[in-house]
Amino acid sequence: MDSDDHEITVSVNGTRYQRRVESRLLLSDFLRHDLALAGTHVGCEHGVCGACTVLLDRQPVRSCLMLAVQAHDREISTIEGLTARDGEYHPLQQAMHDHHGLQCGYCTPGILMTMTAFLDETPAPGEDAVREALSGNLCRCTGYQNIVDAVLTAAKRMRE
Ligand code: FES
Ligand code: FES
Repeated sequence: MDSDDHEITVSVNGTRYQRRVESRLLLSDFLRHDLALAGTHVGCEHGVCGACTVLLDRQPVRSCLMLAVQAHDREISTIEGLTARDGEYHPLQQAMHDHHGLQCGYCTPGILMTMTAFLDETPAPGEDAVREALSGNLCRCTGYQNIVDAVLTAAKRMRE
């Protein structure tokens, strides 16, 4: 074993993975290339766009700013785990669909993961709070209005 390699165990969407990784491997590359979970997108690769957002122990993090070794013994949620096992969309996914909250879709996984954590902590947000929570996720297509409408609709449906 190379001295720069580390054995890590990570839970991703409820599945435990044990892998040997280089110390410099980014979490985003680990998810996309080592685990073939390419739903996590990479845009800027320096923490600005939010496309690579995943949940680490239920909190949103930029996976392009973390090393895979930092995820050792932690729980990660990615966009692939948002749909229920029976295929039913998460309310946020359904609301994004209903409100046409995406165009190219590149930003969408990061937005959905960010909003999942947001609605967990803020189940009844107002529009301003949604916009503020979205402010770390860049979308160059939609103008955000339909995303905001989708998040408000999802919040309402999740409360009912
Ligand atoms: S790719 Fe990670 S924040 Fe842009
Ligand atoms: S839908 Fe294209 S970047 Fe957001």
